[in-house]
Order: sequence, then structure tokens, then C-alpha cells
Amino acid sequence: MRILITAGPTREFIDPVRFISNSSTGFLGYELAKAALRRGHKVTLISGPTPLTPPKGVKFVPVITALEMRAAVNRFYPSSDCLIMSAAVADYRPAAPVGKKIKKTKEILTVRLKKNPDILLEAGKKKGKRILVGFALETENLIANAKEKLRRKNLDFIVAASLRGKNNPFGDKKSHFVIISREGKVKKVVCDKRKLSNIIIDNAESIH
Ligand code: CTP
Repeated sequence: MRILITAGPTREFIDPVRFISNSSTGFLGYELAKAALRRGHKVTLISGPTPLTPPKGVKFVPVITALEMRAAVNRFYPSSDCLIMSAAVADYRPAAPVGKKIKKTKEILTVRLKKNPDILLEAGKKKGKRILVGFALETENLIANAKEKLRRKNLDFIVAASLRGKNNPFGDKKSHFVIISREGKVKKVVCDKRKLSNIIIDNAESIH
């Protein structure tokens, strides 16, 4: 398969030196790329800023903002068989980024935010025969919310993780994940991200 993988956070600039972002490490996306390469798939990795080294053999497409990531996905999606959207795309960007560095003259500074496009939702609308995989992090109603996202975004399966209790899906330690298929099958797994990546690629292969 030609597999398109997105990874890492995006940065949304307030001025030339400040941005809004999140704490995504990109680790899962890079592990997914390695797992797909090991099985002989052709891999394009679109990544927001991370300190990780892209695995040898991928086509690497670095991006910074959500709008850049969307443009890169739109460029490679038509020639892909599978999109795995593991990037933590910033949901909002500053509505009016300033061209010059903001000086600290105001006591209270307000930054207005505008919604970013949902890249996965857009991809779901032109899915064709492609396999689409999404992710969900939830604090409440994990399975119901993930099922709703899976349907709304027209996915083949979704990988959901709870942010409740002791479960910590960030980093490279073992944690609890739930994989929900389009048919509504729910599979619970407890593993690290390397194992999770192999399971995700297995699942995609079994649908193809
Ligand atoms: N995603 C995306 N574009 C966005 C936001 C999210 O493609 N602008 C993708 C993520 O890569 C992930 C999935 O959508 O695979 C779920 O993202 P999440 O932010 O958890 O869900 P939302 O649908 O944005 O809902 P909410 O944040 O309200 O829970």
C-alpha cells in the first residue's frame, strides 16, 4: 500500500516568534512509519515540528502549521491507499497573526482564535476506496465519543485513549487503547506505541 501518515503537533503563530501548540511528541507517527516500512509499504510521513529523525526510506514532508499540513495531505492523499492521521492538529489558530513582534505594552492581551479545518473530516468526504484511520483522546465517555468521531469522519477504524485516571497515552510507556471498527467492534489493547503501531498496520492490511 501507499500509506500516508501524519505526525506531531502543529504550530499556530501569534506573531513571528510566538505560537500556540500542544505537547504531541510525534513518537506514535514515527513508529507507525517504521512499522509500515518494515512490512514493505511505501510511506509518506507528513510531520509537524518534532526532534525525531525521520526513518530511512520514507518520503518526509515537514510542515509547521495546520494549514500547511492540510495542503500537504491534499497533495499526497489522491495517490494514497491509506491515511493514518496521528498528528495532533491544533484545533484553532490566531485569527489575525501579527507581522511584527508584539511588544509587552498591554496589561491584558487578548488573542482571538479561528477554527482550523478538520483535515481528517475533509479526507473522509472524499474517501473513495482509501482506508482512513483516526485517533481520539477523551476524558469522558471514551467509546461513545470515539464511535461518534468514527462515523462523522467516515473512518475505517479509530484508536481511542482515555485521559482519565492513571492511563497516560503520551510518551512511549504501556497504556490502554481501544480500537473501534466501522462495524462497531471494540478491541481493547494494553501496549506501548511500538506494539500499537504494529496492530494498527495489521488492521489496515486486513481491510485492504
Ligand atoms: N484532526 C484533524 N484536523 C483537525 C483536528 C483533528 O485531522 N483540525 C484529526 C486528528 O489527527 C485525529 C482526529 O482528527 O486523528 C481526532 O481529533 P480530536 O481533536 O480528538 O477530535 P475532534 O473531532 O477535533 O473533536 P474534539 O477535539 O472536540 O474532541
